[in-house]
Amino acid sequence: MSKVKEVLAAKFDEELRFFKGWIDKPKAVGAIVPTSGVTARKMASVVRPESDDLVLELGPGTGVITRAILARGIKPEKLVSIEYSKDFVDRLTQELPGVNFVHGDAFDLETALAPWKGQRFDAVISAIPMLNFPVEARIRLVESLLDLMPAGRPIVQITYGALSPVPAGRGSYTVDRFDFIVRNIPPAHLWIYRRPEGSDAGKKRA
Ligand SMILES: C[S@@+](CC[C@H](N)C(=O)[O-])C[C@H]1O[C@@H](n2cnc3c(N)ncnc32)[C@H](O)[C@@H]1O
Repeated sequence: MSKVKEVLAAKFDEELRFFKGWIDKPKAVGAIVPTSGVTARKMASVVRPESDDLVLELGPGTGVITRAILARGIKPEKLVSIEYSKDFVDRLTQELPGVNFVHGDAFDLETALAPWKGQRFDAVISAIPMLNFPVEARIRLVESLLDLMPAGRPIVQITYGALSPVPAGRGSYTVDRFDFIVRNIPPAHLWIYRRPEGSDAGKKRA
């Protein structure tokens, strides 16, 4: 097979696997096709390979954002990635050896991150379909994630609605529009949540 055909076949295979995931669990998967490369690269642009802390990904699916994070120079063993679907986890574990894929629920961080208890995360990249969960659960999730991160460091969240899925003014985090990307199906909005530098909100909660 020519290189072009090989690349096309791999891409088609990935989209098919993603679509199958959507057929099985439409609410959990939340999108019909994987995130575009442009969007994945933008989301991954916030990670810092020079940091000693880990990177956390939520909802890797078929791994388009995972690959973009690794392409930024993050070592596989420094990336923890929580995914709900066992099929996706099994496939990713084969395809991206060394990455810490966890078959678990991002809304139950205590269980999913038990092996990394006490460790800090420098950035969180999330593609979980936030809007399918109650708003209180989304706020709790953002606060719990920020408790694991240094102040000022970002959680990047993709969503397809124009509004932030985690509302401002409901906790100890700020909400910033990061990007709007037309080259994505459907067009994607990216949001950033973080605690202001110098804030001790996380310490109070711990
Ligand atoms: C919209 S897809 C994004 C997949 C991939 N990151 C991409 O951008 O193409 C959402 C992914 O989040 C996973 N997911 C949904 N709810 C989750 C949860 N509570 N914990 C972990 N993963 C979850 C789904 O199984 C699915 O793989």
